[in-house]
Amino acid sequence: MIKLGFLGSGRGSNFQAIYKNILNGTLQAEAVVVISNKQSKMLEISEEHGLSSVFIDPKGFSSKEEFDAELVKRLESHGVDLVILAGYMKILTPVFINAFPNRILNIHPSLLPSFKGLHPQKQALDAGVKFAGCTVHYVTLELDSGPIIMQEVVPVLPDDNEDSLSKRILEKEHIIYTEAIKIVAGKYN
Ligand code: GRF
Repeated sequence: MIKLGFLGSGRGSNFQAIYKNILNGTLQAEAVVVISNKQSKMLEISEEHGLSSVFIDPKGFSSKEEFDAELVKRLESHGVDLVILAGYMKILTPVFINAFPNRILNIHPSLLPSFKGLHPQKQALDAGVKFAGCTVHYVTLELDSGPIIMQEVVPVLPDDNEDSLSKRILEKEHIIYTEAIKIVAGKYN
């Protein structure tokens, strides 16, 4: 079974949705480790499930590369096949990205290639688009630019604000991330 390693920094709702699908058999995969650069809600959730849950404090490292090398070491020590970024708010260095070629996935709350970077839902509202959405993609050296695996469209409603639009996009994120992992996992079986 494919071994997943999760990286996140916050709320952990995407991790939770994916893990639920592992538990109910929708996703044939094993969550072998959950790592965070913050004492995050995501780690609390993974601890509650008895998963290997690791906080790595970036303050203990002299460079971003050194920190990323530690991440690689931890993930490799658990035999991770696929790295799942789930709200990981730190830019990964080439040290990390080159260690897992075509084996890192990310979810971004916009229809890439539109609205890369921070606050994509607000960027979408400011641009006046009528359709927003979310994208699961492979992670490459350029931010939010790797090959797209799956997308879902979310209409923008006349009264939407950043919060309401983000919530509706998040509901779709929770569905498509599992679907995208299934597609990628299929290539390993
Ligand atoms: C999600 O909106 C995801 O698209 C973005 O960061 C947010 C993480 O939320 N990359 P959560 O931690 O999964 O709840």
